[in-house]
Amino acid sequence: MYKLRPMQEGDIPAVMRIQADAYAAEVLEDEAVIRSRLVRCPQLAWVAEDEQGLCAYLFAYHSQVGQVTPLDGEFQAYAEPNCLYLHDLAVAARAAGRGIGPALVRHNLEQASGSRLRYSALVSVQGSEAFWSRQGYQPHEALDARQQAHLASYGIPAVYMVRNLHH
Ligand SMILES: CC(C)(COP(=O)(O)OP(=O)(O)OC[C@H]1O[C@@H](n2cnc3c(N)ncnc32)[C@H](O)[C@@H]1OP(=O)(O)O)[C@@H](O)C(=O)NCCC(=O)NCCS
Repeated sequence: MYKLRPMQEGDIPAVMRIQADAYAAEVLEDEAVIRSRLVRCPQLAWVAEDEQGLCAYLFAYHSQVGQVTPLDGEFQAYAEPNCLYLHDLAVAARAAGRGIGPALVRHNLEQASGSRLRYSALVSVQGSEAFWSRQGYQPHEALDARQQAHLASYGIPAVYMVRNLHH
């Protein structure tokens, strides 16, 4: 069994351990940037906890569709956001395949349902495209050169994906 709850500052060391467990070295982000994301957008940062402790996390923020967050990029503030951007979803290897990732995504999408956001988007890495298409996201091809450079900052194959939000 597991439960979802809002991330707290004291969770960051466990978040860093899950990040190291779940991601290739090329895409590991700095602790300072990760801490700043929690400060910027605490209402969209959630964790999953089971008997053994923290086992998954998700960071998100409100963006504009078509804007890609570069690796180690700060969350920008937009005057008129239209997109729930899922920046980083990671599940500890020991907890994979139990539906925890989808539960965190569903939770954030439901949180957005009372908002005026029309889209949700993310950058898929590490062969997670099929996982994200099961969550309703499709590759979005029309990126300008600047956004393609942001995508290239990941240094490994990365795909920007978008879905509509139904209110
Ligand atoms: C991608 C990720 C978020 C999926 O989260 P999850 O909670 O494992 O998702 P699910 O429970 O739906 O499992 C996803 C698939 O992984 C498979 N899987 C992976 N590890 C497994 C394990 N140890 N046991 C059983 N199934 C496993 C399952 O078969 C499942 O496929 P299915 O939906 O056809 O059954 C998670 O694997 C992860 O954090 N990966 C590393 C970080 C990453 O790449 N994040 C995405 C970056 S965009």
